[in-house]
Amino acid sequence: MKQLRSQEWFGRKDKSGFIARSWLKNQGLPNDAFDGRPVIGICNTWSELTPCNAHLRDLAEQVKMGVLEAGGIAFEFPVMSLGEALMKPTTMLFRNLASMDVEESIRGNPIDGVVILANCDKTTPACLMGAASVNLPTLVVSGGPMLNGKHHGKDIGSGTDLWKFSEDLRAGIITQSQFDQSENDMSRSPGACNTMGTASTLACMVEALGLSLPGSAAIPAVDANRRRVSRLSGRRIVEMVKQDYKLSDILIRQAFENAIIVNAAIGGSTNFILHLLAIAGRMEIPLTLDDFDHLSQNIPLLVNLKPSGQYLMEDFYYAGGVPAVINQLLDKLHLDTRNVNGLTLSENYSRSETYNPQVITPRSKPLQENAGTMVLRGNLCPDGAIIKPSAATFQLLNHKARAFVFENIEEYNHRINDPDLPVAENDILVLKGAGPRGYPGMPEVGNFGLPLKLLKRGVRDMIRISDGRMSGTAFGTIVLHVSPESSVGGPLALVQTGDIIELSCERRELTLHVSEEELLRRRAQWQPDLPDYPRGYANLYIRTVQQANLGADLDFLIGQSGTDIKREPH
Ligand code: FES
Ligand code: MG
Repeated sequence: MKQLRSQEWFGRKDKSGFIARSWLKNQGLPNDAFDGRPVIGICNTWSELTPCNAHLRDLAEQVKMGVLEAGGIAFEFPVMSLGEALMKPTTMLFRNLASMDVEESIRGNPIDGVVILANCDKTTPACLMGAASVNLPTLVVSGGPMLNGKHHGKDIGSGTDLWKFSEDLRAGIITQSQFDQSENDMSRSPGACNTMGTASTLACMVEALGLSLPGSAAIPAVDANRRRVSRLSGRRIVEMVKQDYKLSDILIRQAFENAIIVNAAIGGSTNFILHLLAIAGRMEIPLTLDDFDHLSQNIPLLVNLKPSGQYLMEDFYYAGGVPAVINQLLDKLHLDTRNVNGLTLSENYSRSETYNPQVITPRSKPLQENAGTMVLRGNLCPDGAIIKPSAATFQLLNHKARAFVFENIEEYNHRINDPDLPVAENDILVLKGAGPRGYPGMPEVGNFGLPLKLLKRGVRDMIRISDGRMSGTAFGTIVLHVSPESSVGGPLALVQTGDIIELSCERRELTLHVSEEELLRRRAQWQPDLPDYPRGYANLYIRTVQQANLGADLDFLIGQSGTDIKREPH
């Protein structure tokens, strides 16, 4: 084993070595803690303000035990945590900030290998982006989903059933008191959203990339198997350091392709695209929006989970989880990509079984034939837009109709409940100003609710188009991530109520049927519409964030800086 990076701190006989060891010894460490054994950083996104990650201190203890058992030493450190349920204006504004925290915390410290503890949506990509820019041996332990929600004899899912109850309440189908009653029953245990929302999607992505131990993605947060896998991960990272088995040995182009294919089969969140693009950017692996479209084609939807299907993450785990899905897709996947455990995809998954064909359907009877997220092109989205057909209304996937436009979220909030709103059920709803720079932060408002007057008439879905995102738990015929965004002058900025828009998923096109001359005339009158943040992180973000089709990372964060640091602190 070559000398470890941590010995640049601990292996010295001078004043610097004294400082590195002596101050840490105030935690009771014996001399042999610094004898050259692997030093593992446990990068913890624990926070009581991120409820989905509030149990991660407990898992960190398990990781620590595993590290010690394998002859390493572990230091747990906190990084910025991002909770979907609370943070305004949107956690997506802060994903890149958290990634900088992770990157510099790892690089600046005497760490040889990293275990990432993440769960809620943005915590996973933020940690991976930061770790990728350093490229040490790295292993991810996700926190796992909550137990299934149980309400009045039925299973209810995080987010998905809330969106439904909320529209039912607006439509007068349920009462306020019925709505309130479900609040205690939706979130019953530690863990992340129990639907195939973004958090669970990304836990599956992490496993498909090879970055967590096989079979770990779907284990419920409170299942003893989750603690066991944390302990085994602690043992394994020590071996990875000894083998100098780095992120770049695992995150090759083929691993990204595998993750895209698995994501199509599980009906994963649309946010997956943004985050995977950003991670690939840090690894300097070329990946484009079009890769997602062509790799997802002809991949059947096999996982019957909300929001695309019926069941929840607990059911998915009992049915076989990610191993069962990968096993069914072996003919579509790259078999020789490697997992953190050192084995190839085929070695890990060729014997995995499905235990419940209702939840994970066989390839011969998929839920849908071709349900992966589609990439749309056309004069309304020259750099692309996306739609998730598995969560949409089939009849609306090819539809030409009048646009009804909201210039921004404030106008939408002000008008949407107006009983006289001149909107028709056939219209296509358009929301501007929800992009990365314009909001700022690209919030999950793309699944904005329907006009009250139409809800009351029983309308349950309409095409909605925006430059924003939607929650991974959401559903509907929703076109997202329109690029370039309206606030920087993308064609979305020029749409007016009454224009004709055509969505053709068959041709993968999103077209604004307005003449070139008229669009030029409108463009001449258009003014940029960027929010005013004179200082602070939001100022930096608005100036440097890339568009959604590139993954919305800050332009100066793309790529790697590695592990070297040239100068000393003292
Ligand atoms: Fe944290 Fe959904 S709110 S995972
Ligand atoms: Mg979410």
